[in-house]
Amino acid sequence: MTRQLHLGGFNIASNVTHSHAAWRHPSSDPGFLTPQYWHRVGRTLERGTFDFVFFADLLATPTNYGGSPDEALRRGTQAAATIDPSIVAASIAAVTTHLGVAITKSTTYFHPFEVARIFGSLDHVTQGRVAWNIVTSLSSAEARNFGLEQALDHDLRYDRAQEFVEAAVALWNSWEPDALVQDKRTGVFADPSKVHTTNHDGLFYKSQGPLPVPHSPQGRPVLIQAGSSGKGKAFAARWADAIFEIDPTPEGRRAYYDSIKSLASDAGRDPDLVKVFPSFIPFIGETESIAREKQAFHNELADPVSGLHTLSVHTDHDFSQYDLDGPVEQVTVGGSQGLFDLAKRLTDRDSLTLRDIGKLYAQGVLLPQLVGTAEQVADQIEEIFAPGDQADGFILSVGQSPGGFDDFVDAVVPELRRRGLFRERYTGSTLREHLGLDRVPAPLRG
Ligand SMILES: Cc1cc2nc3c(=O)[nH]c(=O)nc-3n(C[C@H](O)[C@H](O)[C@H](O)COP(=O)(O)O)c2cc1C
Repeated sequence: MTRQLHLGGFNIASNVTHSHAAWRHPSSDPGFLTPQYWHRVGRTLERGTFDFVFFADLLATPTNYGGSPDEALRRGTQAAATIDPSIVAASIAAVTTHLGVAITKSTTYFHPFEVARIFGSLDHVTQGRVAWNIVTSLSSAEARNFGLEQALDHDLRYDRAQEFVEAAVALWNSWEPDALVQDKRTGVFADPSKVHTTNHDGLFYKSQGPLPVPHSPQGRPVLIQAGSSGKGKAFAARWADAIFEIDPTPEGRRAYYDSIKSLASDAGRDPDLVKVFPSFIPFIGETESIAREKQAFHNELADPVSGLHTLSVHTDHDFSQYDLDGPVEQVTVGGSQGLFDLAKRLTDRDSLTLRDIGKLYAQGVLLPQLVGTAEQVADQIEEIFAPGDQADGFILSVGQSPGGFDDFVDAVVPELRRRGLFRERYTGSTLREHLGLDRVPAPLRG
């Protein structure tokens, strides 16, 4: 059988996601605070047999560009207004039956017990459809919302994340699969010999356990990560079932894919079970020229300064101090050095100014845009996917919402199915099954 790809739909629980133009697009629905908006997104993606809907999350109104939230609020940047994605995802799960729900939660600002409890609970109420996107958070504004002066040092964030995940996995393992008995006749509710304390006592966290949440359908959530630094990629390759990246060039995607697969092997894992997902934004038209018009219209709406606000958040660096019409200077940043290096690589390659990179950032945080008829967009997806050295699946982000998801599902998904590249229907019920991952083995007991 032809190798099949996986698909996730990118969101923030907001209408500013990668595209900062989407909220202004005439076809976009401004109702992102309503359940109807999210139910439509979920139902559309399930109609398209997507593996999952994904929610990124940032924990602060942006202040990194110029030190004030005013312009970020006025212009509409990423995280200018968001609601809690775990609540939105639970609401979507209630109106869908197969679609996975992937939610971002930071290891820097929460405790392993709380995160293990939320995701264990969600795995039950979604009947095995939840994923956790593990992030360490990027910006000092987020730190200040949680009582710190500034973001923790990058490598320290990953050291904490490593221990965080170990503690969470131990908590998910605290109930053996058959520990919950509920035998009304004998009066035994649960078998105490099969529920274990965890007694995690590490450098950064302590948690006694057990988790009060019985063993969940997937054993533990699907784990997602998007590290781009050396430390971030090693962490991702050690833990993640799915890994996201946004490099817009074939050589960048190949290098990323190759390094993740080798790091996974080095960590003793089967590299085929670590799925790499590049991202893109499609513009689809009945003809190529209609698609190009749609792209041009969208890109024209993108405000460069709103893009620079988001670049400043992602890098935790204030880009308001530089000349908008000058070149992008080489700087060391506190947030994501990987995203800055990518921006710098593109500006150097094409001799772009800071304003230009702000514009590109606002058009879609540097994501590649796939433009054309449904067949042409499918061709471009196939070109990236088929050689097997760049992608195991894709994260779809849209330039107007929720309609952009409908356009892709109605036009491109049938074309991908016709080529045998994508499922006709769900064959499993859990997200692990959609992604072709092994079952999580039951915990070993000494
Ligand atoms: C598609 C994608 C989604 C991401 N979503 C989030 C997010 O929701 N919250 C967050 O704090 N970081 C997010 N990140 C940032 C990554 O977790 C990571 O910090 C970043 O890629 C830089 O890598 P590094 O941490 O190894 O330096 C995302 C990155 C990518 C590529």
